[in-house]
Amino acid sequence: MGIVGNLNSEQLQFFNSDGYLVLESFASSDEVKSLRLQMDQLLDQFDCSTSASIFSTKNQQTTTDDYFFESAEKISFFFEEKAFDDDGKLKQPKQLSINKVGHALHEKDPVFKSFSSSEKMTSLLFSLGYKRPVGIQSMYIFKQPGIGGEVVPHQDNSFLYTNPTTCTGLWLALEDATILNGCLWAIPRSHKDGLVRRFIRDETGVHFDKPSPPYDQKDFVPIEEKAGSLVVIHGDLIHQSFENKSSTSRHAYSLHVVDTDGCKWAEDNWIRRNADPEPLYAS
Ligand code: FE2
Repeated sequence: MGIVGNLNSEQLQFFNSDGYLVLESFASSDEVKSLRLQMDQLLDQFDCSTSASIFSTKNQQTTTDDYFFESAEKISFFFEEKAFDDDGKLKQPKQLSINKVGHALHEKDPVFKSFSSSEKMTSLLFSLGYKRPVGIQSMYIFKQPGIGGEVVPHQDNSFLYTNPTTCTGLWLALEDATILNGCLWAIPRSHKDGLVRRFIRDETGVHFDKPSPPYDQKDFVPIEEKAGSLVVIHGDLIHQSFENKSSTSRHAYSLHVVDTDGCKWAEDNWIRRNADPEPLYAS
């Protein structure tokens, strides 16, 4: 490809030792603005009477349905658990009720696609050792003020498993992410202990293959970021985020990448594609 990796040896060393890396000002303010604006338009066009799928990291089993499975290759909208009243009606406008939009923004939307396959993104992936990186899952996460749900401690390799494991999470802050509005938290160096469990899809639906071990909250450190900064997350790093109890939202765009050279996509992952994803090369 002729693309040179853009991470320096100090950055790579930090990523390898701690399992994550913050790249400040990775996206320009114009790029942040255009991603946010594009999502505004997608939401405006979305008719929420056609779907009431709820996303929860706590009881995904009961909320999983065809809408969720099919979202692997679409732009689909998922509501917050707390967005509805007892009669099943939205308590506030749809713009403030959505948990996330996913999981193929990086393929199906031109603005998200262009950012996800930009040269700086590809270059970052080559720095990390990818040979034929593909975006396998993307999400626009809203973390709404007051109702933005928690994301319980997890490893991304659990959900997007290849053998050997190759998933990396790329998490772009589209607004300042702080302790108050639900920034990421991670256990530094936890990736060194390897993958704890897998999230399996079979004929009964989806489930973890074993229970989560207990985590000590004292081991987590907050990763606060300015809008435009990118967190690179090793697929085995234990990370989480808390509910947003503040009055400001915390929008983010997250792209998960796996390699398609030298490894095998597990057939019992939740994502089962009809068409193989294209590599993320600069277009
Ligand atoms: Fe994650």
